[in-house]
Amino acid sequence: FVVYLLVSSTSNAEGFEIESQDVRRFEFPDNFLFGTAVSSYQVEGGYLEDGKGLSNWDVFTHIPGNIKNNENGDDADDDYHLFLEDAEIAQSLGVNAYRFSISWARILPRGRFGEVNPGGIKFYNKIIDNLLLRGIEPFLTIHHFDLPQELEDRYGAWLSPLMQDDFLLLAETCFKSFGDRVKYWTTINEPNVFAEMSYVRGLYPPAHCSPPFGNCSVGNADIEPLIVVHNMLLAHGKAVKLYRERFQSKQGGSIGLVVQSHMYEPLRDVESDRQAVNRALAFTGGWVLDPLVFGDYPPEMRQYHRSELPRFSSEETEYMKGSIDFIGLNHYSTLYAKDCIHSPCVLGGDHFIRGFTFTTGERDGTLIGEPTGVERFYVVPRGMEKIVDHVSKRYNNMPIYVTENGYCPPLTEAAPNLLHDVNRVHFYNGYLAALARAIRKGADVRGYFAWSLMDNFEWAGGYSSTFGLYYVDRLTMNRTPKLSAKWFQHFLANRSSAR
Ligand code: NOJ
Repeated sequence: FVVYLLVSSTSNAEGFEIESQDVRRFEFPDNFLFGTAVSSYQVEGGYLEDGKGLSNWDVFTHIPGNIKNNENGDDADDDYHLFLEDAEIAQSLGVNAYRFSISWARILPRGRFGEVNPGGIKFYNKIIDNLLLRGIEPFLTIHHFDLPQELEDRYGAWLSPLMQDDFLLLAETCFKSFGDRVKYWTTINEPNVFAEMSYVRGLYPPAHCSPPFGNCSVGNADIEPLIVVHNMLLAHGKAVKLYRERFQSKQGGSIGLVVQSHMYEPLRDVESDRQAVNRALAFTGGWVLDPLVFGDYPPEMRQYHRSELPRFSSEETEYMKGSIDFIGLNHYSTLYAKDCIHSPCVLGGDHFIRGFTFTTGERDGTLIGEPTGVERFYVVPRGMEKIVDHVSKRYNNMPIYVTENGYCPPLTEAAPNLLHDVNRVHFYNGYLAALARAIRKGADVRGYFAWSLMDNFEWAGGYSSTFGLYYVDRLTMNRTPKLSAKWFQHFLANRSSAR
């Protein structure tokens, strides 16, 4: 039967009625980390303050036509000035962890061609100290898409192996400055998405793409993403080696990397589409995780990319293998996969980067799940159970943190529904219930982060794509809890198993 729960609202005297949750806090381990996630460029603003250098995103967003409504992150959510309030609203949800990232250009405005910026160190120290005072674990990402423009100008950033040393310097600076208090590190956020958006689709800086993947012809979408991910993986490996040799035993933290993976289901009930699912998974999460666990790219990738896929030297394999203490998994959606090796596919899709697989959210005119405000993101809660199960099995039951999961409403959503976000409540309820099922089946999941604490700058989508538990008024910068924030708060507070 359905029990109703009346949650009073601080912003809206009427209060909201929401269905009581089917998923319950007690279904997760006691010491589980529950948090919210943000990233530097998406929330900070303060883009020229206290010695910060220009990032690739500062430059890219200032070029008309690159971002929806020509918006930018100059001010973003002004978290640079409002970080105390942001820690406070996170705390009011009852979370025990907070995922955020370092703005590289704030710490090393010119990469390794200049000095460390004390203003940057001071800013993150304040955030970290404040979170700890509130009993919240900082869960820190060293690199989340934004990097100093100077590194792009000098050598094309991640296209160059030189970037590995830049990253190593950033990581070392972070371990030295923050490692006494930060116990959860992830080196890089979503190398696979970064490579796809920046070097295949041309939607993120430096906006490379080539036919048939986009209608521009800068760069080479067959090769560049492979090089970029290779450099990112090696940079990760070097940073972890350094952490383990010089910091980890003293500081007692753990370190991982964040990958994005959709789940895939066969489009047709045939063996070739089931193989396509396996390839799609190998070319998505496997592309990044196989090298970090086993020391090389997935066999499926080696087979189809042949010589274009870079190789790791034996010395590199040595330090890559086992270079994560845990897997950071960002999961949002599930798609159907169709084989393109044994049967024809429509060209111009993303079959190359998905392992010669055509992926789609539609079968015989029916969508795989409720559509959202992001293309190809559908609400398919069972996908969370399946992807966690898959990742857990492929990587020997390694600890997993779900570092992002969240919902963006269709962009046509009526304004009142943005606060009364029933669909987001259903999303979290369904996805968390599916995660609990994966845990019951044996996956060692240790944490979950909702993307996002608040509405923020959604990259090429600007501010109209809203993933927040809090609504942000772009004029006053006021944060207002949505229904989903209250749902989350209630979910976290109610630890008993009694109904
Ligand atoms: C993944 C990215 O890490 C994050 O920056 C982005 O906002 C969300 N997905 C939603 O698209």
